[in-house]
Amino acid sequence: MEKTGNGKRENWGSKFGFIMAAAGSAVGLGNIWRFPYLTGENGGGAFIVIYLACVLIIGLSIMVAEFTVGRRTSLAAVGAYKTTDRRWTFAGVLGVLSAFFIMGFYPVVGGWSAAYIFKSATGLLSDPAAIVDTFSAFTANPIEPILWMLGYLVVNVIIVSKGVKGGIEAAGKVLMPTLFVLLIFISIRNVMLPGAGAGMEFLFKPDWTKVSGGTFLAALGQAFFSLSLGMGCMITYGSYLNKKESLPSSALQVTIMDTGVAILAGVAIFPALFAYGMEPAAGPSLIFMVLPTVFAEMGGFGVFLSIIFFIAFTVAALTSSVSLLEVVVAYLIDERKMERKKAVYGTAAIMVCTGILSSLSMGLMSEFKILGVVVFDFFDILTDKIFLAIGGMFIAIFVGWFMKKEDLKDELTNGGTIKFGLFEIWYNLIKFVIPLAIAVVAFVGITSIEQTSLMIFGLAIIVVLAIFSKKL
Ligand code: PHE
Repeated sequence: MEKTGNGKRENWGSKFGFIMAAAGSAVGLGNIWRFPYLTGENGGGAFIVIYLACVLIIGLSIMVAEFTVGRRTSLAAVGAYKTTDRRWTFAGVLGVLSAFFIMGFYPVVGGWSAAYIFKSATGLLSDPAAIVDTFSAFTANPIEPILWMLGYLVVNVIIVSKGVKGGIEAAGKVLMPTLFVLLIFISIRNVMLPGAGAGMEFLFKPDWTKVSGGTFLAALGQAFFSLSLGMGCMITYGSYLNKKESLPSSALQVTIMDTGVAILAGVAIFPALFAYGMEPAAGPSLIFMVLPTVFAEMGGFGVFLSIIFFIAFTVAALTSSVSLLEVVVAYLIDERKMERKKAVYGTAAIMVCTGILSSLSMGLMSEFKILGVVVFDFFDILTDKIFLAIGGMFIAIFVGWFMKKEDLKDELTNGGTIKFGLFEIWYNLIKFVIPLAIAVVAFVGITSIEQTSLMIFGLAIIVVLAIFSKKL
């Protein structure tokens, strides 16, 4: 085991534990909250086809690359870049910044979800006509969602302060299988509803007329967000992995699980939505408004299902946000030689502030705009539309052009002890195809987004980091 600032580097306890933790990071709000509403807004099946292509060709290769860099260096994002080539420190710092930004809104939605477990049990579903108003009133309330968000963050702090094996891995091993079982149960139930066929058709029959230049960036950004890529999270998780496990097969397993859950979430939502004649393009509020309405129509069993669903949802969010917190904490431990507990508390304190601002931007502060958007959207759009995709492009360029091919091969075959038959294909994808593909998609997408000033601001941050972060 490699040394770090605090003695021996912690390792995952088992392969299963690592896969569950990495899949736990990947499977989250991205799959259950965002994937269905993006699919709904972008025309269903066609979006799914583009998304799957992004996952398979770009996402999977980048995940292999991130695991490789992490395990090779046994360091979290910033250290991994820095020890290999100092000029690249900024790409790691961009990852840490992305973690902060995603955590600017993620715990808010996590808190909503936790609140809905209790709301489902205490009468939310008794008046289906009031559900939409209840959500708007709840999220706009200046106090209640903040308290839920704080509670949610406290659980994150408890898990991450216990460390990698005792906290993150232990949580993932229990929570992830629970989630799979719950989702499968809800999906089976919903597919059997009368009228569910239209939902399946919407999901699986592509309507290409809905596709525009922006759809590709939406799909690419979603692939990165959902697979936890482009910001050093999988570098960090890979850094805790022992030298025996196969990196390509681990990446494949995590990708399959993540994509499986996204599709399952679609199946859990759309058939029911169509069966009850609702609107697929309801946006971010989709699952909070539509699903409870669907559950309310089912009577007592619906209450049970709703509680279960929101437990699963909260669980999925938790295992992801701990990985976001861990990215920052691991940086502080590796590079700033901080003690784990202190690093967790300090980081969480900042996240409390950004979370409060995001939560308030749904109500009290809805008039307060940064570069044309409310605080919540500011964090969301910057990461999802710019930082992750560009961060993914950086990791591809870094691995393809700044690491030695022999070293990569050595790491991916565990020193020649296992086979990785697709190495050449992977290497060429990473070196040539992916950087170019991301550049094109990002360019077309970024120029077609309305918030031009926000985009310019995001790109400016990256340039500033590239110039000034060499000393970090
Ligand atoms: N993958 C997580 C989700 O789908 C979010 C996430 C993004 C987590 C980036 C870590 C890093 O919800």
